[in-house]
Amino acid sequence: MNAIREHSRSVWMDVEVAADAQPLSDDAKTDVAIVGAGIAGLSIAYELMRRGHSVLVLDRGPIAGGMTSRTTAHLAPICDDSLSELLSMRGAELARGFQASQSAAVDRIEAIQRELGIDCEFRRLDGILFLDPKSEASVLDDEVEAAAEIGVTVERGNGLPLQTLEDRPYLRYSEQATFHPLKYLQGLAKSLTDQGGKLHPYSAVEEISEDGSGVRIRLASGNTVEAAHVVVSTNSPIHDLFALHTKQAPYRTYAMAFEIERGALADALYWDTEDPYHYVRLTSRSDGKDILIVGGEDHKTGEADDAPARFAALESWIRTLIPDLGRELHRWSGQVMDTLDYGAFIGREAQRERTFVTTGDSGQGITHGVVASLIIPDLIERKECPYAAVYEPARKPLKAAATFLSENATVVTNLAEYLAPGELSSVDELQPGQGAIIRDGLDKIAAYRAEDGTLHQCSAVCTHLGCHLQWNSLERCWDCPCHGSHFAPDGSVLNGPAIAPLARVEPSGS
Ligand SMILES: Cc1cc2nc3c(=O)[nH]c(=O)nc-3n(C[C@H](O)[C@H](O)[C@H](O)COP(=O)(O)OP(=O)(O)OC[C@H]3O[C@@H](n4cnc5c(N)ncnc54)[C@H](O)[C@@H]3O)c2cc1C
Ligand code: FES
Repeated sequence: MNAIREHSRSVWMDVEVAADAQPLSDDAKTDVAIVGAGIAGLSIAYELMRRGHSVLVLDRGPIAGGMTSRTTAHLAPICDDSLSELLSMRGAELARGFQASQSAAVDRIEAIQRELGIDCEFRRLDGILFLDPKSEASVLDDEVEAAAEIGVTVERGNGLPLQTLEDRPYLRYSEQATFHPLKYLQGLAKSLTDQGGKLHPYSAVEEISEDGSGVRIRLASGNTVEAAHVVVSTNSPIHDLFALHTKQAPYRTYAMAFEIERGALADALYWDTEDPYHYVRLTSRSDGKDILIVGGEDHKTGEADDAPARFAALESWIRTLIPDLGRELHRWSGQVMDTLDYGAFIGREAQRERTFVTTGDSGQGITHGVVASLIIPDLIERKECPYAAVYEPARKPLKAAATFLSENATVVTNLAEYLAPGELSSVDELQPGQGAIIRDGLDKIAAYRAEDGTLHQCSAVCTHLGCHLQWNSLERCWDCPCHGSHFAPDGSVLNGPAIAPLARVEPSGS
């Protein structure tokens, strides 16, 4: 169990999912083992249970304690990288398949919460995309044209009841949705366990292997799980060292929550045309007030450590639109894996028969996770699935060749950092609560001094493929810019694809 977890807390985190679940304490057998208990893993497990398979879900941390607990819960079938981009990258047929599958995912969440009677604030609402002053007006024209080709209904409008947006053109998409993600998963997890599904938090997986007869999973505890099939839903895949990781890149993204009078802003999803975009959504509180969530200010993981400036920019942006917004309630960050062609990678692993993967959530990881639950059970049962081609993990996004080169250049520039001097010359310079890279001869040390003065020193070499780590002052963890691993100051893994903790370095300073 990790003693130190990432630091900030999202607006949802008061709700615990499967609080009674226990770590796996013995060897086990199951039809399908699922590694990773976020929206993807739990949704896939639920669908498999309904089809009569036994399932066992393993997570390194708490159930639904990964990026799902940090989401902002926008359930939009609309590609968040814009419909025109999606169309030009994927072509009309696959773009229509993307749209249909994302809509089906929202419909599935709606049906499940109704069937199971989950009180998770699910509601349909409009999505409103408004023109940012820095964008050309033609951006919206391109969207309307692409929407017609993909088959998405859109209406034009002018003027929103927000300061500075009174004359701003916008597009309105109907039938979007939102919900409370952890209340939803609490209900889903209860139904799963009531039907005999097994959920095991604090059960980190270290190795997955398959042969002709089945799959064998080895946990850090030494226990093993034997299964006919395995689904790797760890957000960033832990079983694949290289191939999938060259086709996606980790981005850190920020969100804040503020009090707002109920009714002061119509309940809808709002986002603008800037890149990266800003977005606004609402959630309710029991005391008659609403909570407004605002997000954006993304950057590539590890390429900035300036969270206060990012939050200040978000706050200034939203207070310009809503000057009488109430007090701040929460601020947090998380990571999304952006793919080169905007679609996740969901399906059977290349050259494997029994191993399935879902990754590449982009900003649409909630719907992507549920899309995975519509595809993977069909593939396990060797049935046709109409959406499988859109998300085929082995696809090569040829139209994204330039992006491929620039995203993978991160690895090259990152490795050059081993030659750079340390950020401090000695651990003695570290202040309580501070982390920094320190050179020690030919090596680099990731050093952190806790508030109580305890010094943690680890190797600054990521245990996935050896990239150089960067300190994240907001979350008080080490981020890997290459493929998104996070490590706690004591070296334990917080987020994959890394499996092994950082090598400890014996303190030589004080
Ligand atoms: C600030 C923010 C806002 C967002 N807003 C939206 C939004 O509005 N709409 C939307 O659709 N998406 C949004 N996203 C994206 C979405 O929340 C995520 O993509 C999605 O929740 C990921 O779900 P997941 O199941 O793939 O991963 P996770 O929830 O991260 O689950 C993966 C699990 O795998 C476990 N794991 C990892 N390694 C191991 C191992 N070795 N052994 C066992 N378990 C392991 C982890 O502990 C984790 O619990 C947002 C993300 C962020 C950060
Ligand atoms: S996550 Fe791949 S090298 Fe760090």
